[in-house]
Amino acid sequence: MSTSTFLSAFLLAASSVRLAAAATALVFEPPSTGPLVQTANYTSFSNTTLNDKTVVKGKVFNRIIHVWLENTDFATAASTPTFESLAEKGILLTSHHSVTHPSEPNYIASAGGDFFGAGDDNMYHIPSNISSVVDLLEDKGISWASYQENMPTGGFYGFDYTATNYIQPGAAPYTYYMRKHNPLVIFDAVSQDPDRVKRIRTFNDFANDVVNGTLPQWIFVTPNMVNDAHDTTIDFAASFLEYWLLPLLTDPRVNGEDTLILLTFDENHTSTEQNTVFALAIGNAVPHNLRGTTDDTVYTHYSLLSTVQANWNLKSLGRQDTNATVSNVFSFVAEKTGYKNVHVPVNEVPMFNLSGVAPGPLNSAAFVPFAAPNLKARGAGGGSVFIRPGLNEKLTAASLPPPVDLTALNKTTPWQMSPETTSGKDIIPCAGSSCP
Ligand SMILES: *[C@@H]1O[C@H](CO)[C@@H](O)[C@H](O)[C@H]1NC(C)=O
Ligand SMILES: *[C@@H]1O[C@H](CO)[C@@H](O)[C@H](O)[C@H]1NC(C)=O
Ligand SMILES: *[C@@H]1O[C@H](CO)[C@@H](O)[C@H](O)[C@H]1NC(C)=O
Ligand SMILES: *[C@@H]1O[C@H](CO)[C@@H](O)[C@H](O)[C@H]1NC(C)=O
Ligand SMILES: *[C@@H]1O[C@H](CO)[C@@H](O)[C@H](O)[C@H]1NC(C)=O
Ligand SMILES: *[C@@H]1O[C@H](CO)[C@@H](O)[C@H](O)[C@H]1NC(C)=O
Ligand SMILES: *[C@@H]1O[C@H](CO)[C@@H](O)[C@H](O)[C@H]1NC(C)=O
Ligand SMILES: *[C@@H]1O[C@H](CO)[C@@H](O)[C@H](O)[C@H]1NC(C)=O
Repeated sequence: MSTSTFLSAFLLAASSVRLAAAATALVFEPPSTGPLVQTANYTSFSNTTLNDKTVVKGKVFNRIIHVWLENTDFATAASTPTFESLAEKGILLTSHHSVTHPSEPNYIASAGGDFFGAGDDNMYHIPSNISSVVDLLEDKGISWASYQENMPTGGFYGFDYTATNYIQPGAAPYTYYMRKHNPLVIFDAVSQDPDRVKRIRTFNDFANDVVNGTLPQWIFVTPNMVNDAHDTTIDFAASFLEYWLLPLLTDPRVNGEDTLILLTFDENHTSTEQNTVFALAIGNAVPHNLRGTTDDTVYTHYSLLSTVQANWNLKSLGRQDTNATVSNVFSFVAEKTGYKNVHVPVNEVPMFNLSGVAPGPLNSAAFVPFAAPNLKARGAGGGSVFIRPGLNEKLTAASLPPPVDLTALNKTTPWQMSPETTSGKDIIPCAGSSCP
């Protein structure tokens, strides 16, 4: 075979491989005719209404909307056109870090100020004496909700949910929803409380809440397993943002005058390197003179907690949200609230790509019980540490026994549940050791 014949045979083979790949790759399909139109593709329709009357003024923003996508390196997102054009409207945080791998511990950390040793995506629950951002918000009367795309019903407790395939009609049903990306349902203090659990809502509820003018002040949004790039690509997620986020940016019911939107990723894709993720502060609360700029201050997902605490003078969780090295407040918020960030030199940024090595109550291989938070800590909001009912303040981190390898005893941490018993099912919420 001559070189040129060989080359064209090779190119032909390569292009048919590409065609085959293209035939199976998922292509974005809108789940509805618009982000504010309820759809049967989301299983249930909204039948509960939030009724929050007061708006608690923050120093820099009155509403914060977190939107979390999945598993993408900083450079990949930063070089994708939709993200590039969004970056022109906001502040690109170029040194924002996830706190570990894989997904679930990052989501837990963003709500609880710690990932409690978790190093996998198993089905966990966290006892009701452990506080989360919800306690801090409610303490100051700030309304909140989490919107989970393709969660089948409000407050759904199950491990995952498989629904009619709307991307490829006629294909097998698809698991669009996974509990591992739903941080607040993991906290018993939220999921076991009938009033609070109503605030873990579906995307049909989101449409309802916007149309009704009852969108809360603190919001966490988890797109489904295809739209968040988890099962797909950054281009797929970009199409989702074009469909969902872009129209909402011009809707004053969502992006009001004082709204901050924080678009980020749970973790970086390449775990052998530092865990830097694309993070963008957009929304009308971002000062005009800072739009289209970058900020290289060292942040982590704990900064999401400290920034909210600084904005509304909240109490703290007394966990990593009060560890100054890992919880810098977004600069433009720090400046207006008088919080002093610490400068972390590039070569001193902790490695956030470790996984499963931290001992904790959610680590079966290095189990230690839940400790009380550090009650002497002072966070960016300046207040005291929030103490939940049932907290044993004497169980300090220092007082706990050394880690135990439960897996060597063929056991798992008592806070792990069996996904098999809850997959696709909205099981009745359980308490403590009665959980399946
Ligand atoms: C579900 O999604 C598909 C794919 O985009 C769309 O054609 C269909 O109209 C949607 N169904 C509803 C009820 O919105
Ligand atoms: C609301 O919807 C959920 C699930 O879709 C259902 O279980 C519940 O019975 C409904 N409640 C009312 C009052 O219709
Ligand atoms: C809320 O919005 C839904 C439509 O999404 C509507 O059916 C319902 O009546 C509204 N409720 C109130 C209190 O406005
Ligand atoms: C994260 O992304 C940045 C930019 O692409 C890269 O420098 C860094 O090594 C990545 N880290 C991981 C863990 O992929
Ligand atoms: C974390 O990233 C650093 C820097 O790239 C690398 O040297 C190290 O091996 C990584 N650790 C893991 C567990 O992959
Ligand atoms: C604060 O964070 C750094 C970096 O992760 C860590 O080394 C240190 O142990 C943390 N301090 C506390 C009190 O947890
Ligand atoms: C929290 O509650 C659990 C379950 O009741 C208990 O095992 C644990 O000791 C408590 N921990 C703290 C720090 O209060
Ligand atoms: C753990 O289970 C395995 C098989 O599942 C068994 O071989 C082993 O002896 C068990 N170890 C203990 C400590 O019970």
